[in-house]
Amino acid sequence: MEKIVSLAKRRGFIFPGSEIYGGLAGTWDYGPLGVLMKDNIKRAWWENIVGMRDEVFGVDAAILMNAKVWEASGHVTHFSDPMVDCKKCKLRYRADEILTGSPCVNCGVKDFTEAREFQMMFKTHAGPVENSSSAVYLRPETAQGIFTNFKNVIDTMHPTLPFGIAQIGKAFRNEITPGNFLFRSREFEQMELEYFVLPEDDDKWYQYWVKERLRWFLDLGISEANIRAREYANDELAHYSKATTDIEYRFPFSRDFKELEGIANRTDFDLKNHAGASGTELFHYDEGSKKRIVPYVIEPSVGVDRAVLAFLLDAYMEEEERTVLRLHPKLAPYKVAVFPLLANKPDLVDRAKNIYGMLKPSFSVAWDDIGNIGKRYRRQDEIGTPYCVTVDYETLEDGTATVRDRDSMKQERVPASNLTDYIEDKLKS
Ligand code: GAP
Repeated sequence: MEKIVSLAKRRGFIFPGSEIYGGLAGTWDYGPLGVLMKDNIKRAWWENIVGMRDEVFGVDAAILMNAKVWEASGHVTHFSDPMVDCKKCKLRYRADEILTGSPCVNCGVKDFTEAREFQMMFKTHAGPVENSSSAVYLRPETAQGIFTNFKNVIDTMHPTLPFGIAQIGKAFRNEITPGNFLFRSREFEQMELEYFVLPEDDDKWYQYWVKERLRWFLDLGISEANIRAREYANDELAHYSKATTDIEYRFPFSRDFKELEGIANRTDFDLKNHAGASGTELFHYDEGSKKRIVPYVIEPSVGVDRAVLAFLLDAYMEEEERTVLRLHPKLAPYKVAVFPLLANKPDLVDRAKNIYGMLKPSFSVAWDDIGNIGKRYRRQDEIGTPYCVTVDYETLEDGTATVRDRDSMKQERVPASNLTDYIEDKLKS
C-alpha cells in the first residue's frame, strides 16, 4: 500500500488534499494522470450501465437537496456510527474498532466513554440566515437524487419495467476515522444505479446484478484471486435493505477482504417513504394490467475512488528490472507514448512530433524526450502506458517506427502511417 501511495504521488495520480497547508484529513486530490484514469473508470462504468442498455437513463442531480429528503430516506435518524472517546487523550474511535477490553492505541489507557451516536452527514446552511429552516446536508449518497427524480424520468422517458436510473457524482460523509488512502475518505465519488423491477422479480434481478458487477471488474483486469462476492447476514443489513451482497477486494491493509461495491435489494422502501413524505405519488402505471405498481429497486453502488485504488493495487507489479502497472488499456491514463530516439536531433524530433500530432486526436498520448530510451520505457511502464512508439533513423529512411508492448516488452516495426489503426486494433483485442 505504501508503494502505491508513493507512486501515486510521485507520478501525478493522487496528492493529499490541501497539502501545502498541512493537509485535511479524509481528502485527496487527483493529479494529471489520476484524472485521466478516474475518468476512464467512470466512462467504462457509464458505457456498460447506460450506453449499452436501452432501459437505463442517466441523471446528474444537485448535491444540495431539501433537508426533507434525508428525513424521508431515514438518514437523519439512522445514518450515524456509534463512537467512543478515550477519556485520557480524547482520541475518538468508531465503537466497532475498540475490541472489548483493548486499551487506547494512542495513550495505552483503557478508559472509554459510553458509545454515542455520531451523525455522519455534513450539515451547512443555504442562504444568509443560519437557522434550522435553512439547514441543508451535503448528500451522503447519490441514490436519493435518483429517487427524487423517479417521476420526472417516468414522465419524460415513459419506460416500462424493468428500467434503471444511473448517476455518477460526489458524496460526503463525516467519517470518524477516515484512512487507508482512498479507501475511506470524507469526500468521494459514487457510481450508482437504481434498477426498478416488478416486486415479484426482485430476487432474479438482484442475482443478475451481483453477477454483472463482478464480471465488470474481472473484464477490466482485476484478478479472480483478489475479488469475491459476499452475501450479508441478516444482522448486517442496512435499514433499507432486504438483501445485500458486497463485492469485496483483497485490499492489502487488512487480513480480510473489504467492501468495494454493494448490491442491495432496497425493496420499495425509498419510493414509499418519499411518496408518503412529499405527497407526490411515485409509481409505475402498467398499461397491460391497468395497475399502479410501486417497483422494488436493486441498487449496485460503487465508490469511484475505491475502484481507482483496487485497479491500481491489482495492476502494480515489481519485476526484476522494472516496476509496471499492468492496467487494462481502457483504464491506462495514456494509451501510447511517443519518443524521438535522440532529443538533440531536429529531424528525429520533427518526425516524432508529427507522429504525436497524428495520434493525438485518437488517443491520450504522452511525449517523452528525456534520458535514454530504456529510462523512458521504465517511466511509461510505471504509469501503465500500453504502447511506446520510438522514432529513429530507420523511420526517416523507410517510414517505420518501433512499437514496444508494455506487457511482453516485445518490439515490432510498424509503418508510421498505419500506427493509428495498429494501436486501435491492439487496444480492442
Ligand atoms: N446508496 C448506497 C450506498 O451509499 P454504501 O455501501 O454506504 O451504500 C456505496 O456506499 C459505496 O460507496 C461503497 O461500496 C464504497 O465503494 C463507497 N464508499 C462509501 N463510503 C466511502 C468512503 N467514506 N470513502 C470512499 N468510498 C466510500
